[in-house]
Amino acid sequence: MSEKVGKENVKKSHKKLIIILIIFAVLALVFVIFGIPYIKRHFIEKEVDLSKALNIKSVDLNSIKDDNKILIVEFTYAENAGLLENVDAVSGASLMVNHNDELQGDRIIGNCELLADMISVSVGDCDRLAILTEKKYPDTYSGTIAEAKKELDNDEKVKLISKMPDLTQYDTVFIVYPLWWGTIPKAVESFVEDAEFRHSKSDPQYVFAVVSHGGSGKAGSIADLEKSAGIKISGPVLEIFDDDTTEAKDAVYEWLKDIRESEHTPS
Ligand SMILES: Cc1cc2nc3c(=O)[nH]c(=O)nc-3n(C[C@H](O)[C@H](O)[C@H](O)COP(=O)(O)O)c2cc1C
Repeated sequence: MSEKVGKENVKKSHKKLIIILIIFAVLALVFVIFGIPYIKRHFIEKEVDLSKALNIKSVDLNSIKDDNKILIVEFTYAENAGLLENVDAVSGASLMVNHNDELQGDRIIGNCELLADMISVSVGDCDRLAILTEKKYPDTYSGTIAEAKKELDNDEKVKLISKMPDLTQYDTVFIVYPLWWGTIPKAVESFVEDAEFRHSKSDPQYVFAVVSHGGSGKAGSIADLEKSAGIKISGPVLEIFDDDTTEAKDAVYEWLKDIRESEHTPS
């Protein structure tokens, strides 16, 4: 009798052990899938070596048009969050600190800024424009997520302090932006709503888009961009996952080559 009770107790404790092991395995899996990306996004400082990241091959876009006048527009969190005096405290998916810049020392670079830099190094002669907002976004990732949600919910027209260039003078325009809440940031919406694109059949203008994202790709942002800007995006959209930004030069090069070699819809 007592031997039977003893065996049952062993069975029970085996069962308990298996249940504990299963719970532990599930928790470990949840941590790997959600915890590690969360920690990386919120707490880990990313580094970039600009001399490597920007070592991109050149692509001559004069094949699209002789004397192709090019503008690269970027919107990036890092340039709009008042972080620059506080480099050591910085962490988050969209920020990189360049520790190898002899001229400028440590420098915070947003993902979209770095992608715009890659395009600019590759295509050569071009103008640059950073979309800058009047307000500064919070210096935390979660605070910015909340602020962006509020902007969306209130359909806010975000005020810009960057000067609007005469966009009609450009033959090719690149717009580089981060995906925010599955769409274009409200600051980008403000910019393209106020921008005057060329809209000329005899002298076409081409507008290309680069989307930096945390896993959702371009989502519905292209349709929203086209609607707000009143244009068509001319060719394939380049989507870069935020964690891959520092290594994106080959993807950027291939995409630019594709632009150089294919026919595109004027905007
Ligand atoms: C306010 C906010 C909202 C975001 N929403 C999304 C999203 O909906 N989907 C996604 O994949 N990534 C999202 N992200 C991640 C960014 O798109 C991604 O980290 C991007 O590389 C940031 O670029 P930046 O450094 O140039 O600002 C969001 C980031 C922020 C700050």
